[in-house]
Amino acid sequence: MPLNETGFNEWAGAYDEDIAKSKGYPFEGYYKVLAKVKGMIKMGEQTSILDIGIGTGALTHELYKQNAQIVGLDFSQKMLDLAAEKMPKATFIQHDFSEELPLEIQTQKFDYIVSSYAVHHLEDDAKVIFIKKLQSILSEGGRIIIADISFPDATAQEACKEAAGRSWDHTEYYFVADKMIRLLEQAELSVSYEQISFCAGIYLIH
Ligand SMILES: C[S@@+](CC[C@H](N)C(=O)[O-])C[C@H]1O[C@@H](n2cnc3c(N)ncnc32)[C@H](O)[C@@H]1O
Repeated sequence: MPLNETGFNEWAGAYDEDIAKSKGYPFEGYYKVLAKVKGMIKMGEQTSILDIGIGTGALTHELYKQNAQIVGLDFSQKMLDLAAEKMPKATFIQHDFSEELPLEIQTQKFDYIVSSYAVHHLEDDAKVIFIKKLQSILSEGGRIIIADISFPDATAQEACKEAAGRSWDHTEYYFVADKMIRLLEQAELSVSYEQISFCAGIYLIH
């Protein structure tokens, strides 16, 4: 079982510090990944951004400061509380994204839907179904940007797994780019991919 709501509630207070201290797999390249995603967002007057698995708000906090309208979704209330301290005027929804989209956003449209280090909690087929649902709440011309633990191919994932030894997390469903791109294209999604570190990459989807 991947880390659940309780696990993330317990981790929330130490999360930012743990990430800053972490080296190698699984967070190698984390800050570069976040900076890249932020750079992919073209800010307008009232850019609306949905952040899936917002955690402590690391990805969207700076965009909030540039007047983006942020909606943050997470199943961990502790994570949301920490994000809300940084972004008091943002909207937060406590919700498990493995379920249907929450009612509050089913009728909304977002210029960007972003997510960092969260969607690997879903198995590959579920990832695609979820991303299709996200497409339905995207504004005309909008973009979905998913940054996560991701390997170019199965060989690269296997090499990382071997090197990680006992620290490899068997409960998570990491992205493998060649397979994921194929699955997304089969689902009639247009996707481009950039590998950022040996274990992280960014999917730009519309
Ligand atoms: C590794 S953290 C990433 C947080 C943040 N996006 C970042 O880049 O630092 C994963 C986040 O996704 C949330 N999460 C994981 N599975 C979830 C699910 N099924 N529904 C909602 N949130 C989930 C966790 O509570 C946690 O805040």
